[in-house]
Amino acid sequence: MSDTPLGFDTLQIHAGSAPDPATGARQTPIYQSTAFAFRDADHAAKLFNLQEVGYIYSRLTNPTVAVLQERIATLEGGAGAVCCSSGHAAQIMALFPLMAPGRNVVASTRLYGGTLTQFSQTIKRFGWEAKFVDFDDTDAVAAAIDDDTRAVFCETIANPGGVVTDLDAISAVTKAAGVPLIVDNTTATPYLCRPFEHGASLVVHSTTKYLTGNGTVTGGCVVDSGTFDWSASDKFPSLSAPEPAYHGMTFHETFGALAFTFHGIAVGLRDLGMTMNPQAAHYTLMGIETLSLRMQRHVENAEKIANWLETDPRVESVGWAGLASSPYKDRVARICPKGAGALFTVALKGGYEACVKTVDSLKIFSHVANLGDARSLIIHPASTTHRQLTEDQQIAAGAAPNVVRLSIGIEDAADLIADLDQAMA
Ligand SMILES: Cc1ncc(COP(=O)(O)O)c(C=O)c1O
Repeated sequence: MSDTPLGFDTLQIHAGSAPDPATGARQTPIYQSTAFAFRDADHAAKLFNLQEVGYIYSRLTNPTVAVLQERIATLEGGAGAVCCSSGHAAQIMALFPLMAPGRNVVASTRLYGGTLTQFSQTIKRFGWEAKFVDFDDTDAVAAAIDDDTRAVFCETIANPGGVVTDLDAISAVTKAAGVPLIVDNTTATPYLCRPFEHGASLVVHSTTKYLTGNGTVTGGCVVDSGTFDWSASDKFPSLSAPEPAYHGMTFHETFGALAFTFHGIAVGLRDLGMTMNPQAAHYTLMGIETLSLRMQRHVENAEKIANWLETDPRVESVGWAGLASSPYKDRVARICPKGAGALFTVALKGGYEACVKTVDSLKIFSHVANLGDARSLIIHPASTTHRQLTEDQQIAAGAAPNVVRLSIGIEDAADLIADLDQAMA
């Protein structure tokens, strides 16, 4: 092979995998094994001391999961990745090495409702705090960062509103403050946006969504750019100070650009146990092979449907950021030039009642709490995913009571338009 870098379509099929050395199996086998035999006592000791990389026990590492980790890291342009049991697990795994009691994460007000709840309620039990800011106001983000801030968190294309975050502007702020920017790239996928090219330090995914693409398994992933200098300050002792559980070894000094990844496996998965199983990794690997093709169709369909909805008299507004009328159009061209994704909200003139009736009347769209499936999906966030929030929080998150969220699938666009038309009628 030449030295020319391989294209996305090639990497989504090949990165991280090779014919199985034992059998020649061309597809990545599902290594359904809890434990892996040591060659001898010396081999076992080296693995446990992190002096040699290999397989011990599937809570930590598994060969099927390892292929998926390398594939996602490659597609994102990162140094390494750790897969976990869900997108929510990935968020905790990303914050865990950075945070401590009394520390905070500055987060966007426009996030998936479950993340808003995880950040505003559950992480308080660890003594962590989240400060929510409108990420369109870069000065407000800068002002919210204080001496106890250990991370800044946003979504590339925010769920549910479809708003595209100005990652370049936000990463300029986080760089100046010396804290990592964590970007949830679930709704864009590395096909539409690679946040590391816009200054992010870490990327998280719910692989449950577009990466798997068929609504079969939950999973998550933390990808490390390998570029953040954990030792530039004393803010990140988990990575820059001696680790007592490994005889005083320092992760950043020992593993360099792979420090965050090794910490995620050797401490995060070891002690939190939010591990992805090999079956889930298999389904996600199958999905990723067609990621670019699916994302192209998702975006094409979203464009047709958003444009149709915008001219419909029953519709008040359409949130798809790729519309010519969208205030985010220029940002889309810079942050995700291949398209603004296929997840967006539609405000109906008939309010809450019209939303509920539409959801109940659709025949092709499924009413489910999921997104990023090959099938088209719909949900009314105010009565479901965002119902734990106050009305003000719902509006700030783009989930007002008169709004439904569409996740446009890869069916025939004309059929989807006809289905929406009869349901709104
Ligand atoms: C943008 C985003 N991030 C994270 C999550 C959480 O992922 P999971 O359901 O896999 O835990 C979701 C779930 O809908 C999501 O939409």
